[in-house]
Amino acid sequence: MTGFRGVLKITVPLMAVFFMVCGTQTSMAFSPKKFNIPKKGDASSGGEGLSGAALDEAKGNYQLYCVMCHGNEGKGDGQLAPTLDIPPANHTDPERMSKASDERLFKTISQGGASVGLSESMPPHNTTLSEEQIRGLVKYLRVLCGCQYKG
Ligand code: HEC
Repeated sequence: MTGFRGVLKITVPLMAVFFMVCGTQTSMAFSPKKFNIPKKGDASSGGEGLSGAALDEAKGNYQLYCVMCHGNEGKGDGQLAPTLDIPPANHTDPERMSKASDERLFKTISQGGASVGLSESMPPHNTTLSEEQIRGLVKYLRVLCGCQYKG
């Protein structure tokens, strides 16, 4: 009897350790999403906190609603750019983008350029995009410029 109890005393903790180790290894192997691989500008900018699925979503919305004017990479060279009197903003220009606060960027996207004294060619998106989606886009702009508001 004592022999059996002795074996239990050793095997139970051993099995616990075994499952803990295996558990972490399998979760590491099968959920790569837990590891947010930093993208351009992530570490140094307001793009912090935008990663994984949220980054993908913001990027997707940018591709759908913004690239025709602002260009695939945000450089202001989209297909419609030549047709506009005032060129679309270059979102990769940290000098320009650090002059606008997040609130101002939000307002520009939501209510359009005219609401902040910019060109009305920059259309309002408050009927096509939700507040959350616009907030995601503001963060994505910070990823594109690799910059933050400097005041
Ligand atoms: C029809 C073309 C068009 C589309 C679509 C468009 N924009 Fe613009 N955007 C412009 C133009 C033109 C300007 C420049 C306005 C100016 O300088 O007076 C601008 C300016 C901006 C600015 C101002 C930057 C600053 O210096 O403060 C932001 C922010 C912006 N756009 C974000 C977006 C986002 C995000 C989207 C997609 C949801 C988008 N735009 C879609 C044309 C467009």
